[in-house]
Amino acid sequence: MSKINIVTIVGARPQFIKAAAVSRAIRAHGGITEVIVHTGQHYDANMSDVFFEQMHIPCPDHHLEVGGGPHGQMTGRQLEKIESVLLEEKPDWVLVYGDTNSTLAGALAAAKLHIPVAHVEAGLRSFNRRMPEEINRVLTDHASDLLLVPTDTGLSNLAAEGITGNKVRLVGDVMYDAAMFYKGMASEPEWFGSLGIERGAYVLCTIHRAENTDDLARLRGILQGLAEAGLPVILPLHPRTWGTIDRAGIVIADSIRVVPPVGYLEMVWLETHCRVIATDSGGVQKEAYFHGKPCVTMRDETEWVELVDAGVNVLVGANAKSISQHIRASDAVDCSLQLYGAADAAGKIVNAIIDQPTPANGAHA
Ligand code: UD1
Ligand code: UDP
Repeated sequence: MSKINIVTIVGARPQFIKAAAVSRAIRAHGGITEVIVHTGQHYDANMSDVFFEQMHIPCPDHHLEVGGGPHGQMTGRQLEKIESVLLEEKPDWVLVYGDTNSTLAGALAAAKLHIPVAHVEAGLRSFNRRMPEEINRVLTDHASDLLLVPTDTGLSNLAAEGITGNKVRLVGDVMYDAAMFYKGMASEPEWFGSLGIERGAYVLCTIHRAENTDDLARLRGILQGLAEAGLPVILPLHPRTWGTIDRAGIVIADSIRVVPPVGYLEMVWLETHCRVIATDSGGVQKEAYFHGKPCVTMRDETEWVELVDAGVNVLVGANAKSISQHIRASDAVDCSLQLYGAADAAGKIVNAIIDQPTPANGAHA
């Protein structure tokens, strides 16, 4: 049987991490040829190249260099360039990840060309339509031919929107695959010793969500809560957040140690050696669980509701008092429940694509 041709669309940091796991499974299978398209949404070396290098992701076959700018412009320019690539590559499937502008542009370009779309991390909902990610997810799910769902909640969310049947597959979470695969390669950041912070005695924090960085009152509340957490905070700062802090002239407390974004292997090390994680990231909430750490989530809602239900994650919004109190109160967590599958999602994704009927493997979707 001839190989199935897939075009994978990535562009933002969490997508490189998810694609690392799936791309490895694709190569191990041998029945699929993968062409990787990098939209350029994230472009700094420490937001992009470092992941390809550390995680041994094959170099992108096409680099579209569409980063920055407002949503419509970014998504529109990505759409146009992805369409050209798809016309040239003529893939059997387009594989998209998560909920960024690159995800939506990839799904839309493919759907309009009648190329089947497979969506990894389908079915997640925050039910907050003011989040750009929520719009991207809903539209991508409705344009997809294969919905690769990480959680039972994702299945129910899709069913509530009328998306059911053989095209919906519960596969588990590929970030769990990545966390387990790279755990043994975790690497202490070279600057850690110079901070004078003890292992196990710091808060690891990330902040980048638009609702927190575009609202100065929320950002100030978060930084105040972190300053009052009673522990030093290590904050690898996303360039978006750095830009806001810089423009607004916000002074950061001495106990918050701001460092540039780190590579994945350093991030895993920081996650496994911290006392508690405080974040507004989707991926980092789950990684806290994978590495057995309590998580304080500085958002008003989360797509990863099972963590909150299991009592290992608490939603605190951007209120300074709530943030500092919950960090101070955080304790060891039970991470023995298999909430995200068995770290075998990537293999299940590859099998689902191979099994799904399309013109490429002898039937019509
Ligand atoms: C994007 C995703 C978000 C995801 C996040 C992961 C959308 C709408 N948002 O948010 O869902 O959680 O990525 O990190 O797709 N910038 C740089 N260098 C870079 C990348 C970004 O300086 O390498 C700065 C630029 O000023 C840019 C801003 O960050 O305009 C925002 O980047 P963008 O990709 O639009 O959104 P993120 O906040 O990164
Ligand atoms: N991450 C990283 N270095 C950092 C911050 C985050 O490698 O400095 C990783 C983190 O471990 C997780 C992913 O980036 O795997 C999460 O991406 P991000 O928080 O940017 O996006 P989200 O998951 O919220 O969409």
